[in-house]
Amino acid sequence: MIKPIIRVLHGERQSIPPIWLMRQAGRYLPEYRAIRGKIDNFFDLCFTPKLAAEVTLQPIRRFAFDAAILFSDILVIPHALGQRVSFTQADGPRLDALNEPVELGQLRRQINHAVLAPVYETIGRVKTELPGQVALLGFCGAPWTLATYMIAGMGTPDQLPARTFAYRHPDAFAALIDLLVDASAAYLIRQFQAGVDAVQIFDTWAGVLPADGFGSYCVEPCAKIVTKVRKEIPAAKIIGFPRGAGTRLKRYVAEAGVDAVGLDWMIDSGFARNEIQSRRPIQGNLDPLALLVGGRTLDAATDRIVEGFGGGPFIFNLGHGVLPDTPVGHVERLVSRVRGSG
Ligand code: CP3
Repeated sequence: MIKPIIRVLHGERQSIPPIWLMRQAGRYLPEYRAIRGKIDNFFDLCFTPKLAAEVTLQPIRRFAFDAAILFSDILVIPHALGQRVSFTQADGPRLDALNEPVELGQLRRQINHAVLAPVYETIGRVKTELPGQVALLGFCGAPWTLATYMIAGMGTPDQLPARTFAYRHPDAFAALIDLLVDASAAYLIRQFQAGVDAVQIFDTWAGVLPADGFGSYCVEPCAKIVTKVRKEIPAAKIIGFPRGAGTRLKRYVAEAGVDAVGLDWMIDSGFARNEIQSRRPIQGNLDPLALLVGGRTLDAATDRIVEGFGGGPFIFNLGHGVLPDTPVGHVERLVSRVRGSG
């Protein structure tokens, strides 16, 4: 049996759109907080296969989503390249910032797969417990988004450190992007070999790039990753999520080589249908805030999306991740409304 999400990634419309949510495993779930509360360092959760598998499966048990997404983080790649990464409870990730080109020399030339072995083991564990029709998704961060954290050493509202570095040191920056292309491709290939059904490339900060930077730091690196992965795994299904790309999504779809595109909640729905869904399956794009607010706001936004995109190949999702304060009941309401729509 081909899983419904994989059918959509092959371009097939489903009468009831399959559904999963970005950040579906996380702090809005009491059962996640119970496990998280026992662990100091977030990476210990990502790198303990038994716990990571358990957390991956939590939202499947509760909501019967059509896909599980591997529980891990995009920042395991900088870690596997030798950069120190930690997570603070209050302020999110902290890395040893890369301030000058010479500091790039401290990174490994290739990812250390031994560091990532627990992630591959988690995939195997999840596979044995997943219901047959539920897809397992792997993921990685896109090179540009990873670079924004690696250079700033933390999350930033406007990604100024990486944008400045790219202008000041274009050659060193291009070398970092190339390193991340190789690392990401190698990582995704291992994920497929371990058993994921498809992967998603998260380019959370694609929207801040200038026009030429969008080509050289978002579209081209993504295309290179896709080519490298398909060379090893010809049937690999890959979803790209260049958040904030707006009308530049047209170029992304034409050149990045992905099988499907994730839409953020800001995109115009007519543009998405006519210019994007006519070319590729789409995934998205409920505003995470509508899910948090719930009630009629949620129902109306859900119906608009199903009516707008349900006529073609479409996977229901959010336009970004579930917010930690989202009530669990709102997610239940969303799932039953989408499934009642067929
Ligand atoms: O359920 C899932 O989607 C799978 C797991 C997943 C996590 N992070 C778990 C996580 C995925 C796919 C990610 C991707 C990720 N991580 C992105 C891209 C998508 C996006 O949200 O934009 C980015 C930019 C990161 C980096 C990151 N990780 C930040 C900025 C933070 C701190 C902010 C926050 O949400 O806490 C994290 C930590 C993180 N990653 C948590 C989870 C569940 C929370 C950590 C905790 O439990 O203490």
